[in-house]
This record gives sequence, C-alpha cells and structure tokens, in this order.
Amino acid sequence: MIRLSGVSKTFDGGKTWSLRDVSLEIAPGETIVFLGSSGSGKTTTLKTINRLIDPTEGRVEVDGVDVRRQAPEELRRKIGYVFQGIGLFPHLTIEQNVEMVPRLLGWPRETRLTRARELLELVGLPPAQYGARWPDELSGGQQQRVGVARALAADPGILLMDEPFGALDALTRDSLQQEVLDLKRRLKKTIVFVTHDIFEALTLGDRIAVFHAGRMEQLGTREDLLARPATPFVRDLFGKPAQQLAAFQGVLG
Ligand SMILES: Nc1ncnc2c1ncn2[C@@H]1O[C@H](COP(=O)(O)OP(=O)(O)O)[C@@H](O)[C@H]1O
Ligand SMILES: [Mg+2]
Repeated sequence: MIRLSGVSKTFDGGKTWSLRDVSLEIAPGETIVFLGSSGSGKTTTLKTINRLIDPTEGRVEVDGVDVRRQAPEELRRKIGYVFQGIGLFPHLTIEQNVEMVPRLLGWPRETRLTRARELLELVGLPPAQYGARWPDELSGGQQQRVGVARALAADPGILLMDEPFGALDALTRDSLQQEVLDLKRRLKKTIVFVTHDIFEALTLGDRIAVFHAGRMEQLGTREDLLARPATPFVRDLFGKPAQQLAAFQGVLG
C-alpha cells in the first residue's frame, strides 16, 4: 500500500541530511507508528507520502504507483492528513472545516454537508450542537476530534496523523487513543501515526519505526523492539524501568 525506497532528504543542498536512506513498507490496514524525538525526521518522512515534501533521493509509492505520477486531487482523496498541532482553520466553522477536502474535490453541497454531519457524529460531536461553532469555542480534545473527522472526509484508505494528541492532557490523550483504536477496527484504514511518546507508540502501533537523527533505526513489532533491539539506541530507548513496562503486560499479552 505504501512503500518508501531509499528515501533521503536535504533542505540545504547536501550540507545536512534530515533523512537518510529510509526504506519501509506498510501493508493495507496496518497501523505504523513513527517514534522518535523532536527533529529526528518523523514529519519529513510522513510528508513524503502525501507529497507535501519531495525526497531528494529515493522514491515513494502509494498503491504501487510513484506518488510523483499521481495528481494532487487523487492523493488528497486517498490520503487523509491530521496536522501536527491542532491545525483547524479558525475562520471556518466546525462543519466547514470538515467539508474542506470534499469542497476542494468539487463534491455537491448536499453530499458534503451530509458527509460532514455523519463524521461529526462518528467522532462524538453531534453536528446540531457543534457544527456551527468556531474552533476556539471547542476544547483542545474536541478540536482534535474535528481534525480527525476532517481527515476522514473523503473516505481515504490512508490516514496520516502527525503528533495529533501531543498538546493534550494525559486523560484526553488516553481517550482519543482508544478512539483511534476503535476507528481502526471499524473503518479498517491504513494509519501512519507520528509520536515522540513511547507509550503511545506501544499502545497504537501494529509495528513501530524508531527514528533517530534522520535514520530509521528499526522497524518492528513491540515484541521485536523490546526483546530484540537492533541498535544500542533502540535498546536504551525501550530500556525503561520494569515497573513502567509492567503496565504494558496486558498490551503485550
Ligand atoms: N522545511 C524545512 N527546511 C529546513 N529544514 C527542515 C525543514 N523541515 C524539517 N527540517 C529539518 O529536518 C529535520 C527533521 O525535521 P522533522 O522531520 O520535522 O522532525 P520531527 O518531525 O521528527 O520532529 C530537523 O533538523 C528539521 O529542522
Ligand atoms: Mg514533527
């Protein structure tokens, strides 16, 4: 479904490399988490998938076709994007935010509105109550739900989520993580989820890609990363106190 082959990126003509030789494959219906600290290359990698960034070297394929050969409208329809930070348009109502992509794709007004209302319902924001509000009239967690609804508007097979819950308090984050798991089960999307939070990664990822200084250190399941770390960096990252890991016994089975 998504394949990166030898993807590298420099923004300064080769003096420094933000990404170095990243290769990975993501299967349909899989949830992959990109885990790494700030500046490690997660967002840059994510943006090569929907062509917000073109790689300096290497290639990116979606559905077996090089993204450079796909029209922007086609990619928008296939790939939903939840921005880092909140990222709602402040001068548009909640409903207008959600129908943004369908509007760009030229859907008729009635179809757009029906879809927007259905999605607001899906993310737990009854449209009669919330549709006409402005983004700043919603809490952070509610705004983030709108961001998810907006990304789902054109029913894309792929959902890219860039640190969507980073700015939220722990309780709200937990409940939204559960909702992502629930969405994933119900809608069967392929999800690429970016985070710097190791526990969020362990909770959500079918597989986790660990980024460090522009390189992908390892891509594997939780069990792979915990029991068979490929590099000292991964070993140290997952070498958390046993107490904290015990909390994941349930997840690990
Ligand atoms: N548009 C850009 N111009 C110049 N440098 C950039 C740009 N985008 C990202 N970078 C650099 O690339 C590196 C990786 O950034 P990024 O992918 O945003 O990291 P992350 O999302 O993991 O925090 C950083 O050093 C960042 O400063
Ligand atoms: Mg980022």
